[in-house]
Amino acid sequence: AIQRTFSIIKPDATKRNLTGAIAAKFEAAGLRIIASKRIQLSLAQAQDFYGVHSERPFFGELTEFMISEPIVVQVLEGEDAIAKNREVMGATNPADAADGTIRKEFALSIGENSVHGSDAPETAAEEIAYFFSGLELVG
Ligand code: CMP
Repeated sequence: AIQRTFSIIKPDATKRNLTGAIAAKFEAAGLRIIASKRIQLSLAQAQDFYGVHSERPFFGELTEFMISEPIVVQVLEGEDAIAKNREVMGATNPADAADGTIRKEFALSIGENSVHGSDAPETAAEEIAYFFSGLELVG
């Protein structure tokens, strides 16, 4: 089925001018970018967005990293978009990511891993609504 998923191009990638290269990977995989904006997260927003990880030992590192540079938030639409995006991103740890994936090609470490993507339909809907209004989604 046609789905929508939420994506973040993270600070390590925006800093190295990889926004276009990463967007090209999504488009080449058949994912349409139906919304896109470059924003600077506040610490409170980063802590809120990653609230599910608040008890993890890397929470401080993760939230500080996410506010260290601007990010690009996007909504991707396509056939099985959630799974397809996860395939294009590759494994969370770039050391485990398959050849040709975004994380294999661009990520620096498990933390500085260039992209975030929703893991399920419920989280996709929540994450999209957190950053975008309905009017900003142009399918
Ligand atoms: P993301 O998909 O954005 O969701 C949670 C993030 O936590 C994950 O990508 C990783 O970048 C980050 N993360 C997971 N494990 C670690 C770790 N051990 N150290 C730092 N960051 C981590």
